[in-house]
Amino acid sequence: MRQSGGDPDPDPTSDAAGNVATPVITAYLAAEGFEDELRTELVRAGVGAAMRPAHGRLFVTDAPAVDAAWSLDTWFDAVELPVASIADAARRLRAVQRNWVGYHPLHRGRAALIAERLPSVSGRVLALGEPAPTAPLGSWTLLEPGLVLAAARCSSPFPNGEPALAELRHGPPSRAYRKLWEALLRLGRRPGPGERCVDLGASPGGWTWLLSELGADVLAVDRAPLDPSVAARPGVRWQGGSAFGLDPATVLREGPLDWVCSDIACYPDRLAGLLERWLDAAPEATFIATVKFQGPTDHAACDRFRALPGATLVHLAHNRHELTVLVDRGPTGRADPGRADGYRTDRDRPAPFSR
Ligand SMILES: C[S@@+](CC[C@H](N)C(=O)[O-])C[C@H]1O[C@@H](n2cnc3c(N)ncnc32)[C@H](O)[C@@H]1O
Repeated sequence: MRQSGGDPDPDPTSDAAGNVATPVITAYLAAEGFEDELRTELVRAGVGAAMRPAHGRLFVTDAPAVDAAWSLDTWFDAVELPVASIADAARRLRAVQRNWVGYHPLHRGRAALIAERLPSVSGRVLALGEPAPTAPLGSWTLLEPGLVLAAARCSSPFPNGEPALAELRHGPPSRAYRKLWEALLRLGRRPGPGERCVDLGASPGGWTWLLSELGADVLAVDRAPLDPSVAARPGVRWQGGSAFGLDPATVLREGPLDWVCSDIACYPDRLAGLLERWLDAAPEATFIATVKFQGPTDHAACDRFRALPGATLVHLAHNRHELTVLVDRGPTGRADPGRADGYRTDRDRPAPFSR
């Protein structure tokens, strides 16, 4: 703490009482090939002026966290640590917590030597049904050979935002099931036996397969048929035709819906209108929907999805040029949009770094 009395040139990082403020640094990691999307989104969110030159796929800002859908992993309250040596860097990271994962576009040799002195973090392959890990996982990088940037708390529980999912070679007719699986890990919930799902744009049936494998009953809607092996699964029913022509009320007459899923190949604006209708009609359901972009990314359309009540917009590691909209009404049917700073409560904040 500094003395404030009579200082003609106060430190810009201290307040009127002389309390020294810790600079706020947030870093955002883009998926490979989606750096421009993330950069544009951060500028649109008002943190362009606080953005440093890109460090590989990592965008470091001297500003509090903003909602960034194109960030695979957001590093909250990151801290710059000047380090005297490789051993010093490892010691300072270990002093905060056990688990660290590195992202190293630069200074790779030195970073590898630091990583060797940290406990190994395996990024274990998840079997279907296994939950996401809950142990705190920090991220770090070498901005310069003697300067670590580290965040004890990140938005993703997976190394650099990329879950390792087991390959399910026999069963699903397409690999699209992986993005639904990742979305469910993100929600921390999954459909259970007897829960009712509608899967819009379902063919050939990867999502429907996964939902039914988890025990749910699925109404699969698509103009194209399901793969016969999926269509024959117990609890699966296919309805041919356009999802846009389906009145949610006709589905809800048969009983309440727990999950509304959509992977329809269509323009974002059409999907937004469709989701608005289903969100109104099925107030208890949790929604998972893919927003697909053809040509340049339509950032204005993203805002329309963000504005849906309770919606979170994310770029999953298994998404290509698309985003996933999540509206988690939970088992109670209440939307939980979370907090922009990534913490559930203030008490979840990690211990500070030693200086
Ligand atoms: C990416 S694929 C879906 C893959 C599917 N989720 C899976 O796991 O196998 C997109 C689907 O949207 C469907 N589709 C496009 N327009 C549609 C519409 N108006 N109504 C229903 N389905 C539509 C296509 O027929 C196609 O099967």
